[in-house]
Amino acid sequence: MNYKIAVLPGDGIGPEVVREGTLVLSQVVVLYGFGVEFEEGLVGGASIDAHGKPLIESVLKLAKESDAVLLGAMGGPKWDGLDYSIRPERALLALRQELGIFANLRPVKLFSALASASTLRHEVVEGTDLLVVRELTGGIYFGQPKGITRLPDGTERGVNTEVYTTPEIERIAHVAFEAARKRRKKVTSVDKANVLEATELWRKVVTRVHKEGGHGDVALEHMLVDNCAMQLIRDPKQFDVIVTTNMFGDILSDEAAMLTGSIGMLPSASLGGKVGMYEPVHGSAPDIVGKDMANPLRRS
Ligand code: IPM
Ligand code: MG
Repeated sequence: MNYKIAVLPGDGIGPEVVREGTLVLSQVVVLYGFGVEFEEGLVGGASIDAHGKPLIESVLKLAKESDAVLLGAMGGPKWDGLDYSIRPERALLALRQELGIFANLRPVKLFSALASASTLRHEVVEGTDLLVVRELTGGIYFGQPKGITRLPDGTERGVNTEVYTTPEIERIAHVAFEAARKRRKKVTSVDKANVLEATELWRKVVTRVHKEGGHGDVALEHMLVDNCAMQLIRDPKQFDVIVTTNMFGDILSDEAAMLTGSIGMLPSASLGGKVGMYEPVHGSAPDIVGKDMANPLRRS
């Protein structure tokens, strides 16, 4: 079997990490007896520099026609001042939406040898092994209405909309319960149901999917997002699978990354469409670019 992988190195540390990743992959295919063909495309700041926009049609087509996408990182100080509509991050959002990859899975596992890299005490982080299941194509990132408008008095008004529908919640809940079944069989659904109606619905639907979706063998608990932020650094070992909305998942996954010492230790898979997208790191790490640090084994 021969698989085609769209390789989108992007910016900053992205190309360095992806280079190492494809080298490893090239060995893995030899060991397991299948083939891969890599095809590269520019995204993010690299694409802005070459084409004036973060994602061009032919690269999107390449992603859609591949068996999987390997994505490095996007963005950096060079492109920070650009208009929202053409910032490097837009490419990431467009890829998620166009590929329909609604479930982002980020395993947060502490490697013992790196425990001292965490800012938290050893006994708190030791043994951390959780999975953040983040809804990726809905919520406040994509909800309408959105935008900035000018008011009659000359001031401006910025709007984003947190919106979730039943089917969007159902499908991500199923992903979380199925993932938990292969782990320690516990799901913590994180919301702000005491204040936000969109997440009141979230809690209601997750509860129903648990009851009626054949997931009785998995334990379900609900937690408010502010409490979850606190519990993650107080006692991370209490968590197995965390399922949450797009924005809460964005924030909590960075917080969880620090349990492992570095956001560079957190890969993710974005699934749910025909093609999956895989990211070895999160963040373009401009401060360590060009120092050959992506693969510590190569350093002299
Ligand atoms: C992430 C990133 C992205 C997000 C940015 C780069 C748009 O922070 O994948 O977590 O907010 O989803
Ligand atoms: Mg993030």
